[in-house]
Amino acid sequence: MKILVIGEGGREHALVWKLSKDSCKARIFCAPGNAGTAGIATNLAIKSDDVSGLLAWAKTNKPELTVVGPEAPLCAGIVDIFSKEGFRVFGPSRAAAQMEGSKVFSKDVMDAGGVPTAASQSFTSSKEALKYVRSQSFPLVIKAEGLAAGKGVVICNTETEAEAAVQDMLEKKVFGGAGERILVEEFLEGEEASILALIDGKTVVMLASAQDHKRVFDNDQGLNTGGMGAYSPAPVVTDDLWPVIRRDVFERTLAELKKRGITYKGVLYAGLMIGKKGPRVLEFNCRFGDPETQVILPRIDGDLVPALLACVDGTLSEKMIKWRREACVCVVMASGGYPGAYEKGKVINGIAEAEEINGATVFHAGTKVDNGKVVTSGGRVLGVTALGSDLPAAIGNVYKAVARITFDQVHFRKDIAAKALRRN
Ligand code: AMP
Ligand code: GLY
Repeated sequence: MKILVIGEGGREHALVWKLSKDSCKARIFCAPGNAGTAGIATNLAIKSDDVSGLLAWAKTNKPELTVVGPEAPLCAGIVDIFSKEGFRVFGPSRAAAQMEGSKVFSKDVMDAGGVPTAASQSFTSSKEALKYVRSQSFPLVIKAEGLAAGKGVVICNTETEAEAAVQDMLEKKVFGGAGERILVEEFLEGEEASILALIDGKTVVMLASAQDHKRVFDNDQGLNTGGMGAYSPAPVVTDDLWPVIRRDVFERTLAELKKRGITYKGVLYAGLMIGKKGPRVLEFNCRFGDPETQVILPRIDGDLVPALLACVDGTLSEKMIKWRREACVCVVMASGGYPGAYEKGKVINGIAEAEEINGATVFHAGTKVDNGKVVTSGGRVLGVTALGSDLPAAIGNVYKAVARITFDQVHFRKDIAAKALRRN
């Protein structure tokens, strides 16, 4: 069996790693991949948003399964294009991917379907948006409608900040077309968690809970990043919340999409704020989370390929995914300066030594091989990940592994999963 994985980050390394362990012993290709995927798959020199290049490769090489990592090709309709040519591809159609691609579409689905979320208004006119924000209390959240690489959300504590955000998006067009329409949203309080579900069009299989750490520094200080670490399970998602999330978030969303003639297949990621009023949706993503995937997949016991194929074929069932009891923690090791400007090409030492720690795996994100050495090539460089019998054990293992890895100007958070321990 041949499997094509599309993407190049830590999420894709984790996917390739998990799929390579499946009992079907597939040959895996990753486009374009990174230094980590190169060790267990064949990297292809095709960018993840080069849909026609990917299709040309598929027509020649005939993968039995294609798994799409990032949102850009999904929003560009890669699933529709591959399916039309007869390929089995895991992910939502272009219409369904609007759940991530357009925050206005997604909010409209939530409001119409009764999915709990922050109250909001959408605007294209800066004058009207400014008038509205001046009538609101703070904090207030302002979001660019489209894909803005995780930077399109501004939490405004004052009217001045809100005015600046409106002007940046609607007048200065700092996010280009992605910010031609904005959402002004109520600020929700609580603790965040990510719940991802596999969906085959009708059946929902929720995956283990996870929590991301978006801020760059310990204690959630500093700028937002693509994610500095994650852990699973997230105890903020208590047992009583699971049936509520299934019904109010996933089932209501699927029902509303169905009314609009849209079938959702693939993975739907719900970013939730768990507060006093229960879980409310902050955002949906139409793909696996990064770095949530790095902590969810190691906890799956047994094969993943049958469940992914079942999502494509409409034959998914709960028993296809089994869980290990262990907890998992991922610490992102980043380049000095990230999420601002940073240097590349730093030699990374100690990856093999880190993987000698019990339960540890090092997922590559921004790396490449240069003259036979693994060097940094991005802001988020590695996702050092470890299982442990419980969260404290997994934290112990992961930081032992992190201590063995060095590169010039590395930085990482030292408090990943600490919030879960405080809760316990
Ligand atoms: P999003 O891309 O919509 O998930 O937003 C990015 C981050 O901004 C979220 O992970 C939250 O930390 C924060 N955020 C977004 N919307 C809200 C909201 N309505 N209330 C509070 N925080 C929010
Ligand atoms: N971890 C956040 C995301 O994948 O969007």
